[in-house]
Amino acid sequence: MATNLRINADRLWDSLMEMAKIGATEKGGVCRLALTDLDKQARDLFCQWAKEAGCTITIDKMGNIFARRPGKDNSLAPVMTGSHIDSQPTGGKFDGIYGIMAGLEVVRTLNDFNYETQRPVEVAVWTNEEGSRFAPAMVASGVFAGVFPLEYGLSRADLDGKTMGAELQRIGYDGPEEVGGRPVFAFFETHIEQGPILEAEKKTIGVVQGAQGQRWFEVTMVGQEAHAGPTPMKVRKDALVGAAHVVTAINRIGHENQPFACATVGMIQSSPNSRNTIPGKVFFTIDLRHPEDAVLSRMAAAAKAACEEAAANNRLELDFKEIWYSPPVKFDADCVAAVKAGAEELGMPSLPIISGAGHDACYMSRVAPTGMIFIPCEDGISHNEIENATRGDCGAGCDVLLRAVVERANAF
Ligand code: GLV
Ligand code: MN
Ligand code: MN
Repeated sequence: MATNLRINADRLWDSLMEMAKIGATEKGGVCRLALTDLDKQARDLFCQWAKEAGCTITIDKMGNIFARRPGKDNSLAPVMTGSHIDSQPTGGKFDGIYGIMAGLEVVRTLNDFNYETQRPVEVAVWTNEEGSRFAPAMVASGVFAGVFPLEYGLSRADLDGKTMGAELQRIGYDGPEEVGGRPVFAFFETHIEQGPILEAEKKTIGVVQGAQGQRWFEVTMVGQEAHAGPTPMKVRKDALVGAAHVVTAINRIGHENQPFACATVGMIQSSPNSRNTIPGKVFFTIDLRHPEDAVLSRMAAAAKAACEEAAANNRLELDFKEIWYSPPVKFDADCVAAVKAGAEELGMPSLPIISGAGHDACYMSRVAPTGMIFIPCEDGISHNEIENATRGDCGAGCDVLLRAVVERANAF
């Protein structure tokens, strides 16, 4: 490929910082929950920039956006790259949006150099990757990949009962295009690592080999509300005490399955949440992850047993539901090789790495050859307002993306 092609790291950084103003938080992060007005604002800005770069925009029924730069032969399937605009409630300036801005920067660079690829190049924006406002995560790329039916995706509801379908309509991103079936020759996602490995190993590029598996559970424990004063300890049915035992058990399951296992209770709602009423009902979530499916299954069985034991010991009713299972993923050999070659060509130190987080690339790997590029983030911190990455590393990841995209976009 033409090795003189280089992205513009300052332009990429400026675009990232402009996007970071949409939903900016006081501590320097971003709160841009899926399908809120802020999500719409960022989508509008992306579409405007993509059109200014000469792309045509297509939006599907899940609100996924595809910005297409034509190739020499537009009958060929495109090379696609992208990520997500939505963030965690206390999210950072890079998770997701970096992968989209990197894709846009690739398009802008190809324009600068008047470089025509054989295949079209598309930048994708996937709806609700985070799974924070609407569970599960990666739901719209999941519908695209045929993992979930469209009706399932559109009916996901937030804690107020608002559905993705209704919210897509409200913000005007309920597009006309059918979801999925769009041919994709190769898919790449560029992302911050969200962990500490690249920084510790002093490597600029993570050549992502695949991603660990995830299982998500929703648990409700029901006891009995009663007065915090007159009710003796021995007769209580305290749902929060049951949940507390599970929280520590889940943490223990994570520790017991090292190396690699992760186990988290991230959301808990106690009812009625009044300081002088014994909690009668508690809802909480469990997130289990491991790169090996067999270990992940054992962790899931242990989590269920811990819930049953805590419920029995505290005389609680238990509702234990698995709501999501995303198996471990192995990325495509050609795409992984294209990422590695891109880093080598640029003389950047790289490392093979497994993703600890879920990404839209995981579902895309079911319908297209897929690869991912990681760059370091400061202290490995992500899903936090202080999440940070350098201008140089953002540029480096984007230069590798450019090479991988061009290599695949000229391949047959
Ligand atoms: C997505 O951010 C995940 O939970 O891995
Ligand atoms: Mn992400
Ligand atoms: Mn995330």
